[in-house]
Amino acid sequence: MPHKPLPLERLLQSQGFGSRKDCRFLVGAGRVAVDGVPCRDAAAPFVPEGRVLTVDGQDWPWRERLYLALDKPAGYECSRQPQHHHPVLALLPAHFAARGVQPVGRLDADTTGLLLLSDDGAWAHGLNSPRRHVAKTYRVDVRHPVDDELVARLLTGVQLHDEPAPLAALACARIDEQVLELVIDQGKYHQVKRMVAAAGNRVDALRRIAVGGLRLGEGELAGLEAGRWRELGPAALALLGEGRA
Ligand code: URA
Repeated sequence: MPHKPLPLERLLQSQGFGSRKDCRFLVGAGRVAVDGVPCRDAAAPFVPEGRVLTVDGQDWPWRERLYLALDKPAGYECSRQPQHHHPVLALLPAHFAARGVQPVGRLDADTTGLLLLSDDGAWAHGLNSPRRHVAKTYRVDVRHPVDDELVARLLTGVQLHDEPAPLAALACARIDEQVLELVIDQGKYHQVKRMVAAAGNRVDALRRIAVGGLRLGEGELAGLEAGRWRELGPAALALLGEGRA
């Protein structure tokens, strides 16, 4: 259902540009345009759907919810109050965090690759749910050469200390002497590192290359550089439910 017209200051507030008062100030200062037309009336009503808000010269299409992909570099933490590294949210425009955008699940600070972010809590929760079995594909650089036994162990399942049952990879393939491609459908703490260690090797570098059928370097994510984000369209979102295992 389309939204009712909203005063411009509330439209801006819904997109994370500050409190209603902050947004009134932005408009009053002549820093805002709607669909390319400067507007100095913070009370002017606009239907949100389809509007493009320009703030300080930058265009932001109105979005009820944001769905983003980031190629996370090493040295960024996914937690809200990072202890030792930069927050991953520092890689996004400040108003995204202000409207509640958060990482969907977590990657370790030293893990790189595909991180999804959204302010749609229900969607994020659904995607993270173990019942959804969304496949996550990792490129894993390991310390010792990959042999058939390592691959077989990861596929059969390895017992981790705090788990009631062995965890098995959905798929696992040697792609170079010291590189594996590994697919899992859970998201337990340090899961890949712990599985590889339990199978007798050690992770030296970890990169998530896909979630479901959404893969870095392909389709909507072609050309995405490390540390950059992109908004996901309906086609990319539809791929998330698709496994590749
Ligand atoms: N498994 C890990 O060990 N670390 C990650 O960041 C993701 C999966």
